[in-house]
Amino acid sequence: MGCADRVVLAYSGGVDTSVCIPYLKQEWGIKDIITLSVDLGQEDELGPIQAKALECGALESLIVDAQETFITNYGFRAIQANALYENRYPLSTALARPLISKLLVEVAEKYGADAVAHGCTAKGNDQVRFDLGILALNPDLKILAPAREWNMSREEAIAYGEKFGIEFSVKKSSPFSIDRNILGRSIEAGPLEDPMFEPPEEIYLMTKAIANTPDKPEYIEIGFEKGVPVSLNCQNLDSVTLISQLNKIAGNHGIGRLDMIENRVVGIKSREIYEVPALLMLIDAHRDLESLTLTADVTQYKQGVGDTYSKLIYEGLWYSPLKEALDAFISQTQDRVTGTVRIKLFKGNAVIVGRCSDNSIYSPNLSTYGADDNFDHKAAEGFIYIWGLPTRVWAQKNKR
Ligand code: ARG
Repeated sequence: MGCADRVVLAYSGGVDTSVCIPYLKQEWGIKDIITLSVDLGQEDELGPIQAKALECGALESLIVDAQETFITNYGFRAIQANALYENRYPLSTALARPLISKLLVEVAEKYGADAVAHGCTAKGNDQVRFDLGILALNPDLKILAPAREWNMSREEAIAYGEKFGIEFSVKKSSPFSIDRNILGRSIEAGPLEDPMFEPPEEIYLMTKAIANTPDKPEYIEIGFEKGVPVSLNCQNLDSVTLISQLNKIAGNHGIGRLDMIENRVVGIKSREIYEVPALLMLIDAHRDLESLTLTADVTQYKQGVGDTYSKLIYEGLWYSPLKEALDAFISQTQDRVTGTVRIKLFKGNAVIVGRCSDNSIYSPNLSTYGADDNFDHKAAEGFIYIWGLPTRVWAQKNKR
């Protein structure tokens, strides 16, 4: 492995990324390591992480609060697209990777580093997202992924770190692999690898078990402006507050759990548990508001765009010409998606019970079965005659 002088390492404070520091220096001969820890709302204390990096031998340890950027430039885009990978996973982990990649590249350029590094292993999606994100933004930077090559078990990694005086407080680690940010939690591995194994209650942190949720429903109203959620119960909130509050409210009613088998980029199937209370509810509400404000053809065409969009986010192609082109389409459609969605939260369900918009193209006089009906009933017969012509010709030809 040809190496570098100065590396910027994406640093979480966990075992793998901590061990990366002595490993890169000792085994790959790197002189300077600058760590970058990005606050995406994972609720880790950043002070100790910063100190840990220096203790492990980093030259400098940087912390960046990117929660707002994460939500507005990544999360809200995904909501506007109604992005659900394989129709279910709202990409809470996947969306964080292009942002971290961007910050890594910016720091590398600012500090004159010739490489960036991450602690991803060889079987996951995240390595693909980091590598592609970094290389799309600066193809001249080297990308180092020591954990992809070192072949150490967790115990061996801990022992390796200890050789260089690094102490790990939680030696008996949880069997689960967990990724967390303000948009959600992803939990995999350990006993969950058996697809029949029911997730134990204690893995959930953002969502209550149904047995413990309130026995009365709660109603909320979410306001959208051009496809972006901006208010809760008529109160305008900044993006971080809005998402945090919605996570709490929905989580309290046990909303936002997913248990699925998904297809990874590297061809492996994996069993993943997600907690994504605010994000799932917002995508549902957003899609509903679109149904009130967009024409039928745009709604239906956009569904396919959303599928492609979620697949490319999952596959690490956030910085790509296709993504940009789809963004232009999606933005154009969102111009009209302003209004309010009313949701009833109860026992694990977020049921949309009402919606309104100044841009509504729902026409009561056309839709009604009542007296003020404007629809021209006589026109239906002629319409069906023309619309059904090909069917009539085909049926006559095939009649035995
Ligand atoms: N499967 C999800 C994804 O690819 C989450 C992976 C995150 N990692 C974890 N340790 N659970 O986006």
